[in-house]
Amino acid sequence: MSEPGLSNLLTETRRFEPPAALAEDAIATDATYDAAAKDRLGFWAERAGELQWSRPWDEVLDWSKAPFAEWFVGGELNVSVNCVDRHVEAGNGGRVAFHWEGEPDGDRRTLTYADLLVEVSKAANALTELGVQAGDRVCVYMPMIPETVITMLACARIGAPHSVVFGGFSAQALVDRIQDADAHVVVTADGGYRRGSPSGLKPVLDEALQRCPDVRSVLVVKRTGQDVDWTEGRDVWWHDLVEKQPETHTPQAFSSEHPLFLLYTSGTTGKPKGILHTSGGYLTQVSTTHRYVFDLHPESDVYWCAADVGWVTGHSYICYGPLANGATSVLYEGTPDTPTQDRWWQIVERYGVSILYTAPTTIRTFMKWGEELPGAHDLSSLRVLGSVGEPINPEAWMWYRRVIGGERCPIVDTWWQTETGGIMITPLPGVTATKPGSAMTPFPGISVAVVDNDGTAVGNGEGGYLTLTEPWPAMLRGIWGDEERFRETYWSKFAGQYFAGDGAKKDADGDLWLLGRVDDVMNVSGHRISTTEVESALVSHPSVAEAAVVGAADETTGQGIVAFVTPKGSVADEVSSGEAFVQELRDHVAKEIGKIAKPRQILIVPELPKTRSGKIMRRLLRDVAEKRDLGDVTTLADPTVVNAIGDQMKASTAED
Ligand code: PRX
Repeated sequence: MSEPGLSNLLTETRRFEPPAALAEDAIATDATYDAAAKDRLGFWAERAGELQWSRPWDEVLDWSKAPFAEWFVGGELNVSVNCVDRHVEAGNGGRVAFHWEGEPDGDRRTLTYADLLVEVSKAANALTELGVQAGDRVCVYMPMIPETVITMLACARIGAPHSVVFGGFSAQALVDRIQDADAHVVVTADGGYRRGSPSGLKPVLDEALQRCPDVRSVLVVKRTGQDVDWTEGRDVWWHDLVEKQPETHTPQAFSSEHPLFLLYTSGTTGKPKGILHTSGGYLTQVSTTHRYVFDLHPESDVYWCAADVGWVTGHSYICYGPLANGATSVLYEGTPDTPTQDRWWQIVERYGVSILYTAPTTIRTFMKWGEELPGAHDLSSLRVLGSVGEPINPEAWMWYRRVIGGERCPIVDTWWQTETGGIMITPLPGVTATKPGSAMTPFPGISVAVVDNDGTAVGNGEGGYLTLTEPWPAMLRGIWGDEERFRETYWSKFAGQYFAGDGAKKDADGDLWLLGRVDDVMNVSGHRISTTEVESALVSHPSVAEAAVVGAADETTGQGIVAFVTPKGSVADEVSSGEAFVQELRDHVAKEIGKIAKPRQILIVPELPKTRSGKIMRRLLRDVAEKRDLGDVTTLADPTVVNAIGDQMKASTAED
């Protein structure tokens, strides 16, 4: 574990007061903070009471089995009913739930809440026909199409936890996740559109299923019309099975702690963790944060979270939060540059998007493309802009505010994690001042600390490790099938506090600045990737003897993956630093994990720098990867090794 990167400390002191126009009818007020500060559990109970429960809870929080929390104990609800039926029953069935845009231009679909109720009911009936029962895990491997959200809601409706696997993951990654969750049913599509052409999903799944004999049914949406292999008896088309189902479905209520979904994320070891989220507390926090953080007025706002539903941002802020609030959202399938680099601004203009939520990597990419593109569109509908997934540098923040937000929209930089389920640290528009690069303060009802190595809270102006000091409603309920790893990973470093894995600093005013991960987890374009996972993938190549992977600062993606690889003795001479070998290794990583984990650069080296006790000196390799001077290397077994690698690095150029 490395010390928090205090060298990153930001000195930016600009401060923007909340815009008066927004404050007038803002959802959150100063009183929101006061109420939560006075009675944290009472605040959350009041928020939970805004949902529809079939049976009221007996106790707000049971923390007696810490670190395993139970929220709204004894309460019963159906998450899907809260996200769909409730709005139709309230007379809002005609409101648009999703304006969907496929990547190919002109590919559009509008779903109202009434439409969604019919689709979710049919899908729930179809899953039931496939034998899915409450508690069974359903794997979802889909592009960004309405059927993906429909499937998630259908799973929730019948109490079957979903495990959505991002469409960019490889067959091997799918195998690991399907097997770990012991899923017997998978919902997928023939493919999706990305960067102007159809990409295949079913072929990747077919390959994975050769190693997953327990999967008995695959439900396939026809999205692209590509030819796909078909396994009779196992594969069934969505349009054959779902379309013929009855349009109504009588939902059952589930316990507040009934599992809602598993979502796999990278940890510090090679094995991804199945993060478990449950129903009542999760829905309470994601709906509350969605409403307060984005100042959502569901009757007039058009909200667009541009994440992929395969990540937690998509779960909480495309699916559950917005739908629980009866919001109108945009759902977009493709990339921001297809067919042109102003695709997003066309979408904002077309639907009158008023709230936009995206990642700093995307903002930095837009900065590179230039202000003329957004400048050529009418973005005056925008009111609130959000950022998530990685630290946002003040330059990107200021650009976002000026070019996209026309200097009038508050920027909400939201810190949270797959594990936290919902937003934890953020400004609130209309109430909180903002500072470029700071996530500011904990959300009402959330308790955080920045602590030193001993777990003691540091004062203003100091940095340390970010911890969460009280349980929160959307907190993970564990790691699927691994109770010990849950305790060890999050609860063992600082007694009684959740260790987030991030470094943070409190500025002179006590506002929070997130400084990035302090463990072996990289953050590439807002995606979490473990160094160990990429190392394991590299070492699984027959010609690789050893590999060390580090995240190096990257102007656009935040961090880029840099790998140092020593080939096996017998092939070392042959491959040396050959281009073809490097390419083969990059493809190998993509095959083992997915394209998102492809190293930016791979250096073939004769030896890795190690301490005398044989530990790889990652910190030195990070210096090498960022082309910094190496300083004192006397603890190394052989200091010449790292100097040679440093020279090799300085002479190299990145692969792409
Ligand atoms: O390092 C933090 C970073 O992303 C990590 C969580 O990644 P993941 O579970 O994939 O969830 C991403 C979307 C919520 C955190 O440990 N992170 C997330 N948001 C921010 C951030 N770092 C700085 N500022 C943020 N706003």
